[in-house]
Formats: sequence, structure tokens, C-alpha cells
Amino acid sequence: MAQNRSSFTGKIGFVLAAAGSAVGLGNIWRFPYLAAKYGGGIFLLVYLILAVTFGFALMCAEIAIGRKTGQSAINAFKSLDKRFAFVGVLGAVIPAIILPYYSVIGGWVTKYLFAFASGDAAASASDTYFTGFIAKPFEPIGWFLVFMGLTALVVLFGVEKGVEKVSKIMMPVLVVLTIVIAVYSVTIDGAMEGVKYYLMPDFSRFSATTVLAAMGQLFYSMSLAMGIMITYGSYMKKDVSIEKSVHQIEIFDTGIAFLAGLMIIPAVFAFSGGDEAALGKGPSLMFITLPKVFNSMPGGAFIGGAFFLLVLFAALTSSISLMETVVSIVRDKLGWGRKTACLAVFVFCIVLGIPSSLGFGVWDFISVAGLSILDMFDFVSNSVLMPIVALFTCIFIGYVIKPKAIIEELEVGAPFKAKTLFTIIIKYVAPVCIILILVSSILDVLGVAKI
Ligand code: TRP
Repeated sequence: MAQNRSSFTGKIGFVLAAAGSAVGLGNIWRFPYLAAKYGGGIFLLVYLILAVTFGFALMCAEIAIGRKTGQSAINAFKSLDKRFAFVGVLGAVIPAIILPYYSVIGGWVTKYLFAFASGDAAASASDTYFTGFIAKPFEPIGWFLVFMGLTALVVLFGVEKGVEKVSKIMMPVLVVLTIVIAVYSVTIDGAMEGVKYYLMPDFSRFSATTVLAAMGQLFYSMSLAMGIMITYGSYMKKDVSIEKSVHQIEIFDTGIAFLAGLMIIPAVFAFSGGDEAALGKGPSLMFITLPKVFNSMPGGAFIGGAFFLLVLFAALTSSISLMETVVSIVRDKLGWGRKTACLAVFVFCIVLGIPSSLGFGVWDFISVAGLSILDMFDFVSNSVLMPIVALFTCIFIGYVIKPKAIIEELEVGAPFKAKTLFTIIIKYVAPVCIILILVSSILDVLGVAKI
């Protein structure tokens, strides 16, 4: 692959491909429930600050490493400095942890699409619909297998290009629909309290955990700190401005997340008065709240069906990109053929995905530090491994190859304006903040575990 690297065509090709990987369940499902749980406005503010500082610098850095070396993550670090090869390897483990549980949530989306298509829209708005569904042993696993199977078929037959074409039409429609639903949500009776909660930061709720959650979400949503952007960068042409592309991807990715929050959080207040329990619903929040919104909306059954279809597409483009990554790592490292590698990854995902699904039902007694099995995988990848990979990436660039080496690459196609900001973040701000936050939040979790 390395000798014959095809490039993205045109300037927009790169941005679209990277945005396709970035926009997914992270934006629509994960961002709103974290924002609801971690104080609304304060979470949004911290997230936005991190996005324009850490997120910007790290994404520029990863793309530049990829384009400079022309290699995917594992080899890119190795080719720059052998001692740092482990960072690439650590990053490569992350998509394999995410994919199984991502597909469990993808299965829930598929279930809701099916429910709306088969006339169950009104029923899905009841309080017990989701909890009833999720507690069943077999049904959620069945939908997980449907979603995982779709993903695996696309990767097995190599028809990603077809899916990408469809998703190029679906994405703008998803944006429009999200805006429509968000506008409707904020006008429901009692939603204004929620708009305030979401937009006005309450500084008394600021804590290290908020920052860690926002940072993990930033990495997750922008597909950072796991080698993905390095691989994308390795396909990027030299005449494209990395800085501009990163701005475009960030605006798109953050914009959709912001809208998803506006669609869900005010509705939580409208339907439950915003009590802490409703806000802290975690992974189930979107599935409990949105059907209520659709149920109260004129034409809601149709709009809801269309919405879940579009979300399914956004989720599939991400899961395909995740599985593609894992399969190519397995092929590179073990020298297996495409079919064998696909099958192995598929089986692996089923083995990890089934417990994640059961953790909401028959296995809900299993929890570590208050986290369900799915939340545990999510925590390990997003709040532990990604910050560690990000930390070592910053140390590597800041002190081993030096920021200048990366800035040179960033300046190849176009001037790079944010040089000083980039250097300061990579060398000082990011490493110090990541260490402080990691340590304090892990202590926090251990503290909870002891109780
Ligand atoms: N960014 C994706 C989302 O928001 C999820 C994701 C994380 C991802 N890592 C990835 C997608 C790697 C593709 C590749 O849903």
C-alpha cells in the first residue's frame, strides 16, 4: 500500500473523507448525554475551548505526521523514532476497543429506525419502551448483529466508495433535519429552562472530571489520538492547506454536536422538568428523549423515521472506517488475507459486543466504579488510552522531533498562521493539562470504587 498511495482528489476530498469519519454517533448520541450529565453550559464551554486549542493543534499535528511520513500510524511513529513506535501501537488498539460497543449503539439506532418504519413511533415515546427493550437478553444483541453485519459486509466486499457516495447526500440532509428538530425542541413548553442549562455555564459545576470528559469527547468525536488522522494525512496531497482543512472539519463536527445537544437537552427539561436523574441518563438519553419529541411533533413519525435513517448512515460511515482500520492493522501485522482478517475482526467484535449489550439487562449487576460494561469500554478508550496517546504525541513532537519539523510540513501547501499557538500548546499546555487531569480523574474514579 505504501508504494502506491492513492491521494484524495481535489481540496474538498480530504475534508469530506475526514468529516465522514468524524461525524457519527459521537456527535449525535455521545455529546448530548455528556453535556447533560456534566453541567450543560460549563461542559459546552470547556469543550469549545479545548476544540480550538488542543483539538486544533493535535489534529494539525496528526495529519502533518501522516503526510510527512506517508505512512499509517504504527509505521509513522516508528519511521520517525523507533523508541516511540509504541505510541502508534497503543493508538491502534483504540479502534478495536471502540468498534464493538459502537456497534451495540448502532444496533439501537437500527432498532429505532425499524420501530418508526413499522408504525411503532407512538409506542416508543413511552417511559418504559427503551428500558424494556434494553433489558431483553436477545433482541438488542440481534440488532447489534444486524449493524455489525452491515459494517462487515461493506468492509468485506470493499464497497466503501458506494457508501461514501450515498453519505455525501445524506450528511447535508442530516444537518438540515437536525436544525429543524432543534428549532422545534427549543419551542416545546418548558424547554427554555433547558436552553439556559445548555448555553449558560454554571462555574460551580466545573471540575477535573468535566475537563476529562470534554477532552475524551473531543478526541472521540474528531477521531483523534488513535492514529486515524495520521492515516488520512498520509493520503493528503501536498498542495492542500492542513490548517484550513482542520478548521473546516472542526466547524462541521462541532456544529453537528452542538445542534444535537440543542435538539436533546431542552427536550429533557420539557418532558421531565430537568431533574438530575433525567439528565444523568448516560448512553440511553437520546433513545429516551427523542421519541418523545417526535411524538409531540406534527408529522413526527415520519420525521423521526427519516432522522434515525440518517443517523444510521452517519454511524455506518464511522463504523466502516473503524473496522477498516482494525482490519488493515490485522492484515499488516499478521499478514492475513482480507477475508480472514474481516472474519477475525467480526468474531472479536461479537465477543466484546455481546457483554456490552447484556450489561444493560441480565448482566447489569456487573459494574466497576459505577460503570456498566459498555461504559467501561468507553471509559478505558476515551478517558484513559486516548489522553495517554495524545500526551505521548505531544511529548514526541514537542521534545523529540521538535515542533519545527511539523510546522515545516504544515507550511508546505500554504502559510501556517498559528505557529506560536501550536508550539505552546504542544510543548507546554497540553502535556501539563493532560497529566493533571488524568491523575485527578483516575483518583476520582478509584475513590468512587472504594465506596
Ligand atoms: N468520530 C466518530 C464519531 O463521532 C467515532 C470514531 C472514533 C471514529 N474513532 C473513530 C470513527 C475512528 C472512525 C474512525 O462517531
